[in-house]
Amino acid sequence: MSSKLRLDKLLSSLGYCTRKDVAMLLREGIITHTLNLPLKSNTKVSHDEILYEGEPLDPPSGMVILMHKPIGYVCSHDDGEGRLVYDLLPERWRLRDPKISTVGRLDKETSGLLLLTDDGALLHRLTSPKHKVPKVYEATLDRPLKGDEGTIFASGTLMLNGEKTPCLPAKLEVIDPTHVKLEIVEGRYHQVRRMFAAVGNHVTALHRSSFGNLTLGDLKAGEYRLIDAQLLSD
Ligand code: URA
Repeated sequence: MSSKLRLDKLLSSLGYCTRKDVAMLLREGIITHTLNLPLKSNTKVSHDEILYEGEPLDPPSGMVILMHKPIGYVCSHDDGEGRLVYDLLPERWRLRDPKISTVGRLDKETSGLLLLTDDGALLHRLTSPKHKVPKVYEATLDRPLKGDEGTIFASGTLMLNGEKTPCLPAKLEVIDPTHVKLEIVEGRYHQVRRMFAAVGNHVTALHRSSFGNLTLGDLKAGEYRLIDAQLLSD
């Protein structure tokens, strides 16, 4: 059973309205109780007792979103940076507290599997370098492979420009001379593009197809679904 919170606190934390607005929304019949019990702003309620415009509330905190990030969207909360991945979610989710953040980032020009969560502990665990979550990227290359890239990436000795420690071993799977899959367990800035730059190539298209044991399934670019956080446990 979910714990009880003041109604005004619950609705403002889910981004529906400010705490002050709740009294008015109750008078207007926008916020109601599933069993039509009387409500006040300070009534202690559980999440599943409340309806907003006759609909159950958005998921409570502790949500994990699996998104198919399209090219052209930025993993940032800053509106000045163009189209944001948060623009693909319902507008009020931006006002939630705790805030929803991306688990690591994908570049603006990279598509694929992106996780978002409002669970700070989970976010920390999944992005910590200690927690080596394997991530698979599909890359299109500007030039055909030379042949030694797989050995170099697997060696654990590849140094990226400006970094102090080499990349951890990564697995290269060759599809054809200009198409590969690369599995990495870190999340350094622009890592895949920089790894190919370090061996004299250039990535022209990049897509993340998996994160741990999660894949996109039939999600289309721009779509998302909620997943059970348990799917991310060790
Ligand atoms: N590596 C990159 O170069 N870009 C990404 O978005 C993710 C990994």
